Amino acid sequence: MRMDLDFSGRHVMVFGGTTGINLGIADCFAQRRGRVAVVSRKQENVDAAVAQLSRHGGEVLGLVADVRDPQAVQAAIEASVARFGAIDVLVSGAAGNFLADAKDLSPNGFGVVVDIDLKGTFHVMRMAWPHLAKPGASVINITAPQGQRPVRRQVHACAAKAGVDQLTRVLAQEWGAEGIRVNAISPGPIGDTEGVRRLVANSPESKKRAEARIPLGRFGELDDIGNLAMFLASPFAGYLSGAIIPCDGGGTIEADRYRPE
Ligand code: NAP
Ligand code: COA
Repeated sequence: MRMDLDFSGRHVMVFGGTTGINLGIADCFAQRRGRVAVVSRKQENVDAAVAQLSRHGGEVLGLVADVRDPQAVQAAIEASVARFGAIDVLVSGAAGNFLADAKDLSPNGFGVVVDIDLKGTFHVMRMAWPHLAKPGASVINITAPQGQRPVRRQVHACAAKAGVDQLTRVLAQEWGAEGIRVNAISPGPIGDTEGVRRLVANSPESKKRAEARIPLGRFGELDDIGNLAMFLASPFAGYLSGAIIPCDGGGTIEADRYRPE
């Protein structure tokens, strides 16, 4: 079920928008008549995403760039702006993660996740700055509960997403005067996504156990995140900035993993 909003003519740019949660976000905006650009590393993912998004009949652009490369990010932004004009909605969601004990993690393994999630998000925001609609742009970073809660075997992602949370808050402070709102969505486990497969549940049994720890008793759906992104991009969220918003069925307040049966 999707919110009934209209993004006709609005330029929506989604970094990491070719699979999973971020593609779900892009799809929501494409269905609501936004002019949507999606960016990621792999041409095959870009092509598949463009094919999916184009089915809604609107204008779609797919671009290849690695968020670790500021020049590539800048080139993608300039190409999208040349086609669709100033950016109204900027989503930064490219990320990498895997399970590894810190004692076994190589410096490069730690660094690669920080480079993609944290430095990549800075590159996206920094390079987009000259092209954001002023006033009115909505910047949405995709963070994770690991940004605020420690999670074993994910020291790399915990550190990186904590940084994303602070980027969100500081740039909300700095960019508010230009009428730009900056927020982050912190999803819980969402459907059949790469993040869930790698980190949370890779069998029906482990999924059942994980769902039992969520107050609403289920994993989220792509549209749960897409609806929140559309709300954040809409005038209804006009006084919302600097917020890290959990969308997780209450999962992050459920610290009581050892509650009585
Ligand atoms: P996913 O399907 O693996 O999506 C990651 C996206 O980022 C892909 O489009 C990938 O495409 C792109 N990407 C990866 N590295 C990149 C790079 N260096 N430069 C540019 N693009 C890059 O993952 P997901 O599970 O949907 O997660 C999406 C976001 O939600 C992430 O920020 C994640 O931390 C967050 N999140 C997910 C969950 C969950 O339940 N899945 C929960 C909490 C938070 P290419 O491979 O083509 O580059
Ligand atoms: N456990 C421990 N270390 C790992 C690892 C794992 N599962 N996967 C990768 N690494 C380490 C590598 O060993 C390497 O370090 P080294 O040079 O010291 O050996 C370092 O991470 C970089 O790996 P590489 O495969 O070269 O990185 P990449 O740039 O090709 O890919 C990743 C980046 C590793 C994050 C990859 O998993 C990826 O592309 N992920 C995107 C999708 C994703 O993670 N989605 C879920 C989002 S929540």
